[in-house]
Amino acid sequence: MTLESVSDHVGVAGKRGATLNVVLMGPPGAGKGTQAGTVAELVGIAHVASGDLFREAVKLGTDFGKLAQSYMDRGELVPDDLTVGMVMARLQAADCRNGFVLDGFPRTVNQARALDDNLRRESRKIDKVIDLDVPEEALLARLSGRWLCKVCHTSYHTMFSPPTQEGVCDRCGGELYQRIDDKEETARHRLSVYFDATGPVLDYYRHAGILSEVRGDLPVAEVMDALRRRIVGAEHDL
Ligand code: AP5
Repeated sequence: MTLESVSDHVGVAGKRGATLNVVLMGPPGAGKGTQAGTVAELVGIAHVASGDLFREAVKLGTDFGKLAQSYMDRGELVPDDLTVGMVMARLQAADCRNGFVLDGFPRTVNQARALDDNLRRESRKIDKVIDLDVPEEALLARLSGRWLCKVCHTSYHTMFSPPTQEGVCDRCGGELYQRIDDKEETARHRLSVYFDATGPVLDYYRHAGILSEVRGDLPVAEVMDALRRRIVGAEHDL
């Protein structure tokens, strides 16, 4: 079944006339980027990745981008006020009208609260939060072998999901690159920042009763299927 026919079949959010706002959580290397774009496309909602938004700003060379880069290269979180403003502006775009999958945001309890407050003012809310669970020892191996497309951000791995042609994106033909913050020392630091700053966000959503977990250490297609079922429900089985 092609992606297009799957989309037709699933009964996308837009067709249901309802919105669906999802947060995909998980530590660096859990597979958020690998899954979120395709899952959002299947469901018919937007994929909003804070890391990609920052990397676009870095590429443009804006003052905002330069400031963000100084945190990203060290594996530190960009300050909450900058991050919240950037993501909330993105959520105003027309493609978010039917809903969105947030990837990489929120990462602090302050960000989670600001997200709820901003959405509430617009009569919107987060419907589901899914945590991709991957054992810590697998995460570093994933980050060190990762290659990404400069154009469409598709994620590859030298061993687990190599592109058909080395250095070239299967999806759009773009050039592949490795991220500076995937160097082992920085990646280790990102993991510890995640567990310290973002662990409490999981508790925040658990307390709100909207958190569930999906195993992220299975093959990509199985993780995607589990996510799709969790997001649109088993009644939409293909
Ligand atoms: P960001 O870009 O969000 O990075 P991250 O959260 O660290 O997540 P990653 O992109 O590293 O991992 P992923 O879960 O997307 O994994 P992927 O799918 O690529 O953030 C970067 C920086 O921006 C932050 O450090 C911070 O400075 C800043 N920032 C961003 N958001 C912020 C916020 N809200 N607040 C403050 N600062 C913020 O997969 C990894 C690899 O594994 C790939 O090679 C992939 O092919 C492979 N893989 C994926 N799934 C599988 C599988 N099932 N089996 C085998 N291999 C797999």
